[in-house]
Amino acid sequence: MIYTVTLDPMLDRVICFEELVYDDINYITEDQKRPAGKGVDVARVIRELGGKSISLGFAGGYAGLEMTDLLAAEGIEADFTRIKDETRSSLTIFQRKKKMQTLLHTPQPVPDQSEIDSLRAKVDAIPDGSSVAICGNIPSGMKQDFFAGLIGSLKQRNIKVFFDSDREALILGVAQGPYMIKPNLFELNRLTGSKAARPQEIKEVVKPVQDNVEYIIVSLGARGAVGFSKEGSYYAKPPRVNVRNSTGPGDSLLGGFIFAMTQGHSFAESLRTGVACGTATAAGVSDAVCTKNDINTIKEEVIIERF
Ligand SMILES: Nc1ncnc2c1ncn2[C@@H]1O[C@H](COP(=O)(O)OP(=O)(O)OP(=O)(O)O)[C@@H](O)[C@H]1O
Ligand SMILES: [Mg+2]
Repeated sequence: MIYTVTLDPMLDRVICFEELVYDDINYITEDQKRPAGKGVDVARVIRELGGKSISLGFAGGYAGLEMTDLLAAEGIEADFTRIKDETRSSLTIFQRKKKMQTLLHTPQPVPDQSEIDSLRAKVDAIPDGSSVAICGNIPSGMKQDFFAGLIGSLKQRNIKVFFDSDREALILGVAQGPYMIKPNLFELNRLTGSKAARPQEIKEVVKPVQDNVEYIIVSLGARGAVGFSKEGSYYAKPPRVNVRNSTGPGDSLLGGFIFAMTQGHSFAESLRTGVACGTATAAGVSDAVCTKNDINTIKEEVIIERF
């Protein structure tokens, strides 16, 4: 089974008006709610490809219950740890006439120690032989070595950890030897203190990281992604697409890659699937992850080069 861990999932709501008026009633013309978060998008892509996963993380208050319910309606199983603070929610107010949007965000919840311990216990109960995607940031108020602790103990049980984070959480996590990491170029350069840009430069920069991490994919936005492992170094170039969505291409890449690897595909083939998922999400309808049809079409056009 594949598990995803997201400490800061969110409940997104978008409401539309013709035009917002003050001191009077506004009638909502459209109202949509959906769970958001890096691991949530990874889970969506896995489901889209026909796989199954269980989402772990924190869920609090009514927003947390609603998020869990909406995920179940999407066919995604979750086993969130309940917390006293309310799950983050965002409200986007869209005014059609003015083509203007206003975003309101609630504060991030701060889990207490007993809540952190109970999430930790859920991760410790993940069966041997599973794969785990650990994604996103560690909420303020929690120690930045939390992911590192999870990675260390999962690794001891031969559970494969696919890790996508940034800054201190990424540095500390990498030291524990996750199975795979997927930084984008900025995250890689922060991790390694470098200024790599071209595939050959990236290849040099990741060499010391390869002592700790078996599979490294560095995503390069529209340029695709480069992948490094003992099997070789590969550059996966996606086709040009019209970008309609800037949220979640990296998470889609990760979801596609994990699914393909757990199906027993080679590193190069899994990289191709991941890049196809990332590009399909970038080209797709705003705020939604890729569809299976788009993934399959784009996959045919991804060029893999060994270098
Ligand atoms: N403009 C684009 N055109 C085509 N493909 C894209 C574009 N942007 C992203 N992608 C695809 O998505 C993959 C991941 O994108 P990117 O490097 O932007 O990830 P990221 O920065 O981790 O994104 P995020 O964390 O916001 O989901 C790329 O490897 C590529 O396949
Ligand atoms: Mg990312």
